[in-house]
Amino acid sequence: MTDLFDSLSPDLEAAKARVSVLHQKLEQLAHAYYTLDAPLVPDAEYDRLFQELQQLESQYPELKSPDSPTQRVGGKPLTGFTPVRHAVPMLSIRTETDTESTGAINFDTRIRKDLGLAKDDPPVEYAAELKFDGLAINLRYQQGVLVQAATRGDGATGEDVTQNIRTIQQIPLRLKGNVPPVLEVRGEIYMRRDDFEKLNERQRSKGEKTFINPRNTAAGAVRQLDPALVKQRPLSFFAYGLGQVEGNIETHWAMPETHTALMQSLSEMGLPVNNECRSVQGADGLIAFHRDIGARRDQFPFDIDGVVYKVNRFDLQQRLGFVTREPRWAVAHKFPAQEQLTVVRGIEVQVGRTGKLTPVAKLEPVFVGGTTVSNATLHNEDEIRRKDVRIGDTVIVRRAGDVIPEVVGIIAERRPLDAMEFVMPRQCPVCGSDAVREEGEVDYRCTGGLFCGAQRKQAMLHFAQRRALDIEGLGEKLVDQLVDSGLIRTLPELYKLGFAKFAALERMADKSAQNLIEALEKSKTTTLQRFIYALGIRHVGEATARDLAKYFGKLDAIMDASVEELLEVNDVGPIVAQTIRNFFDQPHNREVVEQLRATGVTWPEHDSQRLTSFLPFSGKTFVLTGTLPALSRDQAKALIENAGGKVAGSVSKKTNYVVAGEEAGSKLIKAEELGINILNEEKFLTLLNSTSQAFNTSKITQEDS
Ligand code: IVH
Repeated sequence: MTDLFDSLSPDLEAAKARVSVLHQKLEQLAHAYYTLDAPLVPDAEYDRLFQELQQLESQYPELKSPDSPTQRVGGKPLTGFTPVRHAVPMLSIRTETDTESTGAINFDTRIRKDLGLAKDDPPVEYAAELKFDGLAINLRYQQGVLVQAATRGDGATGEDVTQNIRTIQQIPLRLKGNVPPVLEVRGEIYMRRDDFEKLNERQRSKGEKTFINPRNTAAGAVRQLDPALVKQRPLSFFAYGLGQVEGNIETHWAMPETHTALMQSLSEMGLPVNNECRSVQGADGLIAFHRDIGARRDQFPFDIDGVVYKVNRFDLQQRLGFVTREPRWAVAHKFPAQEQLTVVRGIEVQVGRTGKLTPVAKLEPVFVGGTTVSNATLHNEDEIRRKDVRIGDTVIVRRAGDVIPEVVGIIAERRPLDAMEFVMPRQCPVCGSDAVREEGEVDYRCTGGLFCGAQRKQAMLHFAQRRALDIEGLGEKLVDQLVDSGLIRTLPELYKLGFAKFAALERMADKSAQNLIEALEKSKTTTLQRFIYALGIRHVGEATARDLAKYFGKLDAIMDASVEELLEVNDVGPIVAQTIRNFFDQPHNREVVEQLRATGVTWPEHDSQRLTSFLPFSGKTFVLTGTLPALSRDQAKALIENAGGKVAGSVSKKTNYVVAGEEAGSKLIKAEELGINILNEEKFLTLLNSTSQAFNTSKITQEDS
């Protein structure tokens, strides 16, 4: 069988195959982006593939088909919304991908040529403004009242999203002042970066999927079918142009003559207009604007992906007209992309000042958001699981504003066979202490608070604060100096440093050094409560420290207390008890405590209020034999031990009680021989209850006294 392709040249054949791959790929990506609002790759990646297709199509025009992704803009309307035919098509603007100043020069040169201007004619006046990274919307006002809001769709037909748009506080439902009978305002719906971060923070704490970026979150929200859900996504809006205008007569509203004047007028009607819109002169003005905004890009509370230049005068705009779907009088001049693809080379764990362990992706360096990024946060273990990030994966990295770069997702098809799953370490990578994840928390934390190098500064400041050991003069600056210079690595060293070392520090007068020495001396005489609080054990605030000090009386008793014993303290719940136990289980923490005591830090101690000797079965030995009617062997054993008793395996003279059930054997006979108290289950429980009651009464009496 002869194939049509047999006649093609090898080059053309290869190009044809590639074009077909690109069609499929771009269709899939465009569908995810426009229809599902869930992009699969960064825009920059889409642009690269798109340009490759354009390139092939211009080289082999016979491969250009009407259904090529290059032949259409935007996406198909989503079913579920009523289609809206735009009275005036919603166009896109040509994009100048050259992020350098040549982008501006090229535009100005073209405009001057199209307007037929000579070299020595005056510069063209432009409106220069921000290119917001959101979703275009057409707001239709009739007699000043918002009657319809529609997305761009494919430019000719969009979707009616009026209900959703009405939830956006910033969009006026009625315009102020004199307005034409029909006024369509066009602009961008976007989400502020802080709103986006807060939303993701909430998702993370609920254990739900995070959103990729503000743009696609905003687009997804606008096209969400349930307006109640839209309300939970804080959206914002900026106006940047007009659609249909009718009844443009003096009595209503005089159409301004320039774009900048129009922006002023829209603002007076109550529409949000961004105040960075400026009129500038010629290419130089454009370049300066591009540079200025580029330098301040991170300071805006929302993402911008470039700037937009428009010929300011409307009469000139009209003269310039359109090419296909783009106006000749406007261009978008991009900034470096804020999302890029790169490869995860490894995953490391960083320890924060508070001991929080954060997994960080080590990346193949990539230029994103204007800088080279080689680390990006993965937030926590659950996030890594949810996004399924593995070492070797190709990932989308986002760096926008002053938010730390983060891995927002993976490209599943690019996973290599040897991609490796990451396992969160159970030890702190800085100090080797145990790292634990508390119940209900997403983060692992290092438990070596006093010893851990990462937590050194924080630990010292906490230790020195007024309500802890109260070391006057030991503030943030001094702690930074002491730690950064390497003079102090652990807390106890603070007490050993001496006058000369302090006085030698930069900006440290002799007098201050002397004061510090005195403050350190003074701090050595403290209270147990302050000392415990000063240790900076997680969850142990002043009140808990006071309760612990009061209840146990001695530091050693607290350090050795079991979780059960700690639970006896007022307001100490399971999490706090476990945290205290974990803290003192770290040999390094105990070492620091011992060293502090050795330098002379002291406090008065008193006898424990714990009533160990009053535990109902304290000092009593029990033997269990036979099958009890209700209690299992383990349950009976636990009851005895919780009440302070011991359970032995065989009967001897030292046995106080034998608890016997059905089919008790030799142990029962031995007990009878030795004349030991024999209890059945009922009597055992009665004994437990009566002694416990006596115990409780005596405990209350003691506490009250
Ligand atoms: S003017 C005919 N101005 O960029 C010109 N567009 O393709 C219409 N955009 O999807 C657009 N900021 O949503 C204009 N200051 C701005 C803009 C802006 C963002 C978006 C717009 C459109 C795309 C242009």
